[in-house]
Amino acid sequence: MPETVTITDNRTGRSVEAPIVNGGVDAKAWSDVLPGVWFLDPGYMTTASAQSAITELDGENGILRYRGYPIEQLAEHSTYLEVCYLLLHGDLPTKDQLETWVHDVTYHTFLHENMRRRFMDGFHHDAHPMGMMVSALAALSTFYPEAKNIEDPQNRNIQINRLISKTPTIAAMAYRASIGMPFVYPDNSLNYTENFLSMMWRVAEPHYEPDPVLAKALDVLLILHADHEQNCSTTAMRVIGSSHADPFSAVAGATAALYGPRHGGANEAVIHMLTEIGSYENIPAFIESVKGGSDRLMGFGHRVYKAYDPRARIVKAHADEVFKVTGKSPLLDIALKLEEIALSDDYFKSRNLYPNVDFYTGLIYQAMKFPMDMFTVLFAIGRMPGWLAHWQESLEQNSKISRPRQVYMGPSVRDYVAVGDR
Ligand code: CMC
Repeated sequence: MPETVTITDNRTGRSVEAPIVNGGVDAKAWSDVLPGVWFLDPGYMTTASAQSAITELDGENGILRYRGYPIEQLAEHSTYLEVCYLLLHGDLPTKDQLETWVHDVTYHTFLHENMRRRFMDGFHHDAHPMGMMVSALAALSTFYPEAKNIEDPQNRNIQINRLISKTPTIAAMAYRASIGMPFVYPDNSLNYTENFLSMMWRVAEPHYEPDPVLAKALDVLLILHADHEQNCSTTAMRVIGSSHADPFSAVAGATAALYGPRHGGANEAVIHMLTEIGSYENIPAFIESVKGGSDRLMGFGHRVYKAYDPRARIVKAHADEVFKVTGKSPLLDIALKLEEIALSDDYFKSRNLYPNVDFYTGLIYQAMKFPMDMFTVLFAIGRMPGWLAHWQESLEQNSKISRPRQVYMGPSVRDYVAVGDR
């Protein structure tokens, strides 16, 4: 059986036979035989927008690998910074490469003082940290104007290093600003995740000692969020990057895409949902309202996974470790019961709706005392290397500017009518 498809234009009888390579067909075959006929695919349900060697996702079988390494192995044995290196460079670092990378990231965590004094202080006292984060990332491009030299690989690496190093500093600063607490400067004696926790929580103590179990759990969560191939925010990153905008502006756009409740905002929406359900007795009524279309079971369902999200399984396992330290969240029992009921209900089974990564992350973040409006910020810290790896890859591939077509559905030509005559 040939691994090909034949596309025939029945108006002209012209045909083209195109090979199916790696599960895809080159759209050029379509445009050769059907010039000017657009392939309508809102939401990119059937469109592969890139060829990528970064993350392999098999949604049917619940498989996720970064550069070939199963997510389960990375979560168990690696660290977030090592995974960043892997995503950005294609291979796990040698001991020397890792040392240099960790050193470089650790020593670039500081921000220009004007970012804090002039920029962050300008926000209203109750500004959402995600809004601050989007703006602060964009503002960094004004501090590093050389970042627009995107053709220069060495210059790109400097900006990548800056973004990985400074994102937790911005995130913690946004949080401290949102609650009126003084900013805590980075502590280079701590590792990446510990330093972030120190910038978040340190009060008057001379040296902040994070709980190692919580620091490790957060590190694992960052690994799980580090990349997820062509998701909404990464697509935004690639699209903005395709115009050759600087990486700070592109990352600000990707962060904005992450903000929405259908993407990175879902972990916050899960906690709202569990809080609203409130107790076991209310679960059946809630499930019915989901099935009736009035509600959505947040933290369930995924465009790509039609099986249990492998990240959700790892998060669920780590939740137990975290709760041993923090005490159990009263919402956990509701979440577990909800999952049990949903997984045995035909509505969810027939639509392949399983828990996704966000179903349990919010509970862990809440137990660690992160306020809800910081949840998506945590996701953004984690996703930074993925966005940057895709940005870098698309520039190396010399890809074209993203410019899809549309199928015009509006009125045909009509004459302008003066306002008094309408
Ligand atoms: N609860 C109830 N029904 C759902 C849900 C849900 N969470 N998700 C999908 N469905 C139903 C939907 O109503 C539709 O049913 P029908 O065929 O009868 O109309 C069917 O399943 C297909 O849904 P869809 O909206 O066409 O699927 P999609 O691929 O466009 O949407 C999704 C994917 C993630 C936006 C959606 O599942 C959703 O809104 N989930 C809740 C939000 C959420 O948890 N998002 C986090 C995603 S994981 C983090 C990340 O990677 O960004």
